Amino acid sequence: MGGETLMRQILDYGSRADPYPLYAELRRTPVSRQEDGTYAVSTYHELLALLHDPRLTSTHADQEAAGGGQFPPSFIGMDPPEHDRVRALAMRQFGPPHSPYRIQDMRGELETTVRELIDAFPEGGEVDLVDAFAYPFPVTVVCRLLGVPHEDEPRFRTWADKLVAAIDPRPGEDPAVRLQEGAATRRELALYINDLIENGAGRSDGGMLFRLAADHDAEGGPLSRLELVVTAVLLLIAGHETTVNLITNGMLTLLRRPDLWERLRREPEIAPRLVEELLRFEAPVQIIPRRGALTDIEIGGVTIPEGAVVALVLASGNRDPKRFTDPDRFDPDRPDIEHLGFGSGIHSCFGAPLARLEAQFALTELVRRLDNVRLLADPPPYRGSAVLRGPRHLPVAVDRILV
Ligand code: HEM
Repeated sequence: MGGETLMRQILDYGSRADPYPLYAELRRTPVSRQEDGTYAVSTYHELLALLHDPRLTSTHADQEAAGGGQFPPSFIGMDPPEHDRVRALAMRQFGPPHSPYRIQDMRGELETTVRELIDAFPEGGEVDLVDAFAYPFPVTVVCRLLGVPHEDEPRFRTWADKLVAAIDPRPGEDPAVRLQEGAATRRELALYINDLIENGAGRSDGGMLFRLAADHDAEGGPLSRLELVVTAVLLLIAGHETTVNLITNGMLTLLRRPDLWERLRREPEIAPRLVEELLRFEAPVQIIPRRGALTDIEIGGVTIPEGAVVALVLASGNRDPKRFTDPDRFDPDRPDIEHLGFGSGIHSCFGAPLARLEAQFALTELVRRLDNVRLLADPPPYRGSAVLRGPRHLPVAVDRILV
């Protein structure tokens, strides 16, 4: 079957539970032209090369997320030098060298949030691990990171839910309606964030929003108000559905492999390796759908012409047998754990250290506290999106919630 028809099949909802055999077929043509003129890249080495290639632009990457051009792009949709300036300013409040302890300092809050969510599970019954846990967890964490006051978290969650719904295609829908809803939510959220900054949100507890707004010493800074609002919305969106999928894919993988469930319970210290292997095996961002060729690019025996849209199929590269031994086996002990799950190059995931920690805490605690868990649907129902792929629900039966 030609690569062009395969890509259509991959995007089809019917393939969501297991797109991996289709990716294997796609890799027979590492760079394949689609019917609509876009190019799909599916093999590890070609993906890595293109992720580092300045001849691909990211400038229209978040068109959809940007709400139809009402807002300027966030830094995920910028090229250097603008990208580097905004990312560096944001990083000053998030990681090394200026804030080396920012994420480590959130450990206590992560632990508390995980504990409270699990405490609220119904005793001796059935629970949907997406709605009851994986979904609320990252949004609570982003609120704490940005400095959203606790009493506003429910409102913030509602906006996050709506934004996530707006990027998740539903079968038979009119995409224009979904995008309009997304744009309206984004406007409301932007106004709210603007008010927060105006009122000195997070001033007392060092919230990232306030610190970014007040960062007058930084070279090239501080971010303008609009840049700040757009960056905050990016952090919320980029950090939300991705982390939900990592946790949910992790639980599903462990439920299918009781030996590993048991092992993580006995040896919680394997959590970092397990999460890393998950990012390879079930990449939460399966595809970077829209990069643009700034000039003709020769790669994988093909010339991608100037102006073409390029889709980078990260999840396929993660299963490439030319790079990984026995790639379809989930194996946290593999000596070559590495992946494209966070992308690579200048746009590689900004939130990776936080995402890793969230997933490690979440999986370790769920495995420790849930006694005799049984999967109630396998495969579970998936979300619409082929790009941010993961179960929409993960219903399980649990005998007891341990303390
Ligand atoms: C499991 C969780 C996550 C996964 C799999 C993931 C994956 C990715 C990927 C593949 C990219 C590259 C996109 C591109 O090249 O166009 C990216 C970029 C980004 N991610 Fe994540 N992400 C996760 C969690 C987070 C979190 C928790 C945050 C923030 C708190 C975050 C913030 C960002 C930002 C801001 C970018 C843009 C970076 C840039 O353009 O320089 N992500 N992420």
